[in-house]
Amino acid sequence: MAHQSDLIADDILAYLNAQENKSLLRFITCGSVDDGKSTLIGRLLWDSKLIFEDQLAALEADSKKVGTQGGEIDYALLLDGLQAEREQGITIDVAYRFFSTDKRKFIVADTPGHEQYTRNMATGASNADVAVILVDGRKGILTQTKRHSYIVSLVGIRKIVVAVNKMDLVDYAEDTFRNIEEAYREFAKDLGFEDIACIPISALNGDNIIDRSPQTDWYDGPTLMHYLETVQVASDLKEKPFRLPVQWVNRPNLDFRGFSGTIEAGSVKPGDEIAIPASGQTSIVDRIVTLDGDLEEAIAGQAVTITLKDEIDISRGDMLVDVKSRPDYADQFEAKIIWMHDDALLPGRSYLIKFGTQTAGAQISELKHKVNVNTLEEAAAKTLELNEVGICNVALDRNVAFDSYVDSRGTGRFILIDRYTNATVGVGMIDHALRRASNVHWQALDISKKERAERKGQRSCVLWFTGLSGSGKSTIANLVEKKLHSLHKHTYALDGDNIRHGLNKDLGFSDADRVENIRRIGETAKLFVDAGLITLTSFISPFRSERKMARDLLEEGEFIEIFVDTPLEICEERDVKGLYAKARAGDLPNFTGISSPYEAPEDPDIHLDGSKLNAEEAAEVVVQKLEELGILDVWFPEI
Ligand code: ADX
Repeated sequence: MAHQSDLIADDILAYLNAQENKSLLRFITCGSVDDGKSTLIGRLLWDSKLIFEDQLAALEADSKKVGTQGGEIDYALLLDGLQAEREQGITIDVAYRFFSTDKRKFIVADTPGHEQYTRNMATGASNADVAVILVDGRKGILTQTKRHSYIVSLVGIRKIVVAVNKMDLVDYAEDTFRNIEEAYREFAKDLGFEDIACIPISALNGDNIIDRSPQTDWYDGPTLMHYLETVQVASDLKEKPFRLPVQWVNRPNLDFRGFSGTIEAGSVKPGDEIAIPASGQTSIVDRIVTLDGDLEEAIAGQAVTITLKDEIDISRGDMLVDVKSRPDYADQFEAKIIWMHDDALLPGRSYLIKFGTQTAGAQISELKHKVNVNTLEEAAAKTLELNEVGICNVALDRNVAFDSYVDSRGTGRFILIDRYTNATVGVGMIDHALRRASNVHWQALDISKKERAERKGQRSCVLWFTGLSGSGKSTIANLVEKKLHSLHKHTYALDGDNIRHGLNKDLGFSDADRVENIRRIGETAKLFVDAGLITLTSFISPFRSERKMARDLLEEGEFIEIFVDTPLEICEERDVKGLYAKARAGDLPNFTGISSPYEAPEDPDIHLDGSKLNAEEAAEVVVQKLEELGILDVWFPEI
């Protein structure tokens, strides 16, 4: 190694010690290949001299072969970049690179700048303290500069470096630089940045990267490296109220009970009073235990185990917090969400939400608007597509402890997970809690569902018919209801076409509307089951997620999924309502089976083969199955 190698060779312990005690700065670089981003990072790595000799030789050789600098060293080639990056000339993922100088250690997140990579940039920026936004001195502030600035502000970066690059190509002209600086400060004034440093640089020539450039004697600010080495960040986090999400309860023997996790914000000392938001209980910190012995104080970023003076009930997912400055504890909040998945966000769909160590069920109860990441304008929206940003109200299925993101990044952000595929589909930053649900309480009723159903001589349940339009759902459901009725059972049928004339007449057939359609039907069916009725629903209900949601609303055994499995060709041939013909002609958009998907049940409770059974036979299969399940033969009431 070309630098620090003497120390490594002579005194490895001193070297490691020095490394360990240096502070760490995480930053992100935003820009595209054309702005010289890769060249800039390559230059920082090069100038910090943390490069192996053989890499140097390879770089020199590569620069001659494939470099873009006419045989001179091409710093961009230093980045180990993915193959595709070299081939397409763009960076496609988040790459984290480590380097260090005598003063500090650095982790730089290098992410692509194109709009289709907004999610990568948000990921890379989410842990960064500083963003370096590259602007080409010849072009000034572009749409992408605004987009990058908005995204980094969204994920909470408050310190910005505007690196005005390629100053060599504008003759190091001061007024070019000042104009860009002024335009940027004007544009960014509402983005909540604390500190904006504008630095004229040439990544290629090294101007104002490490050393002051003789070409810009009109500039008296710091060089880029000087700024990165001296900018203050970590102390902010220490000043915040104490937050420790409990990762696990450490109980090796009966005499020791500690709560382990990483401190997300603030600091803690033995003797401090803490509270648990979920229970409202409080206690005093007894010890702060680590592998290297007890601590007198621990601060944000440290992983510790805390013991308390009192025996109180705390489990994984709870949060230890400063008693005087507690987080919100609520089940609804407003948040900004960045959508990360190809499948759009569907308000009404039930997702899993994860905050550090806490998990809950969540729905987007209202998508207020989306934000155009290029212009920052607001627009009405029904869904969010990949890389879109929306302001949403989120409703959870239980209370959780959280802060607003501006107060505490670690406890104010969350991810959304698809319940079916387990994929991370969105990330969110909480603005504030909504208090509206807190005054609505569940009213306990004395007569139970079971009592209502038994009075009717049955067990209440939902017979959930799903299948394509024209598959025979409604016909079969109708016959089943008639049969049950003649057996003196108490039933109620909810049918797609009928409900869409009343309760759901505001809904169409977009994915979002179908999700909401089924959410309302699921909730309605639940009420009928509670009333003790055998409830029959016939809706296409094309998405597995919503059928699962409807199932999850009910108790075990109450949701009976009946797949009316009639092949598309047969449904289309029947075409009772003439809708398939219209859809094929292109006059009916989003038609299930033609231009909108149907996700068949993987393991239905009852599978009816619509190509073999007629409606009468299918209805008989259902009734027999209900008898087998013991739904019909609860004691017969006196008539
Ligand atoms: S669901 O997908 O949201 O469950 P639902 O069962 O309520 O659909 O409504 C389906 C009925 O609406 C169909 O049987 C058909 O009569 C009618 N319909 C009208 N337009 C469409 C469409 N684009 N896709 C499917 N069904 C449609």
